[in-house]
Amino acid sequence: MNRQFTRDTLGRSVDDITGSRRMRRNRKADWTRRMVQENRLTADDLILPIFVVAGENRSEPIEAMPGLFRLSPDLAARKAERAAELGIPAIATFPAIDAELKDNSGSHILNPDNVINQASAAIKKAVPKIGVITDVALDPFTDHGHDGVLRDGEILNDETVAQLTEAALLQAEAGADIIAPSDMMDGRIGAIREALDRNGHQNVGIMSYATKFASAFYGPYREAIGTQGLLKGDKRTYYIDPANSDEAVREAALDVEEGADMIMVKPGLPYLDIIFRLKQTFEMPTFAYQVSGEYSMIKAAAQNGWIDGEKVMMETLLAFKRAGCDGILSYFAEEAAELLQKT
Ligand code: PBG
Repeated sequence: MNRQFTRDTLGRSVDDITGSRRMRRNRKADWTRRMVQENRLTADDLILPIFVVAGENRSEPIEAMPGLFRLSPDLAARKAERAAELGIPAIATFPAIDAELKDNSGSHILNPDNVINQASAAIKKAVPKIGVITDVALDPFTDHGHDGVLRDGEILNDETVAQLTEAALLQAEAGADIIAPSDMMDGRIGAIREALDRNGHQNVGIMSYATKFASAFYGPYREAIGTQGLLKGDKRTYYIDPANSDEAVREAALDVEEGADMIMVKPGLPYLDIIFRLKQTFEMPTFAYQVSGEYSMIKAAAQNGWIDGEKVMMETLLAFKRAGCDGILSYFAEEAAELLQKT
């Protein structure tokens, strides 16, 4: 047999160069590719974030997040039913608060009957088996859009922690299974853990937004919860500088010490290195939040026909798994779980 090898300038064949190691052998067919696949995405990996708004049978499209809606508690419960049907283990709620209820300290967060608590109760009643994760932060409730009490241009740490701790207790009482503080105040994980334990909520978990970066990817979320245009200044005195990685590890270490059951990195895709480091360092259940800007960029490019939206969605979700995530909060959760069910 006359085998023809292309030779390089030194006269070497490909087998001379690779020592006959050929990576493509394992990629040659669908069955080999399935056999060697290292990571896989399932519905169990997905957490569905939803936006909740007061009222009944209220569903408002969010312009900057095509396909998503603000839902009143009754419709949030329907959405939770759908999520459970798809095998999604948990739903995370974010409130859009009517402007007249907002003030400097975000006091409406301490109303036991506010929309986030109504939504938890409605969801738990309709779908007891789905996990409810509530965001604890003041920004939906403050008239300045910051995550803390603002005084003389400063976000007050300890006053904010005291308020968030109260709010977390109310959320636990309303039925939240996991409290997710997203404010980045110092000491809030320890304070909330202690308050939960003292009040009989030992089984309520804490998913800490351990490393939340001062990111521009949160843009569309501000429209979703109605805080666009409100924010004075930026959040760099409490969120982490996107330039920093060691600081993110130290920040997460504190949350783990203070009693977080799970840690989260936010945003997601631009911070896969942080996810990888935290998973390696702490061996904790580690989550990513694929945030609003990440969702909207993919949707917008897909709507323009510039990318295949479904494929890019699935590729990004799988990338989180590869980086070490145990799960992903993603606005794509429902769509991705539907796709997984079909295939
Ligand atoms: C603040 C909070 C933010 C998000 C959820 N909770 C960020 C912010 O407004 O600064 C962003 C979520 C997203 O962009 O999808 N507590």
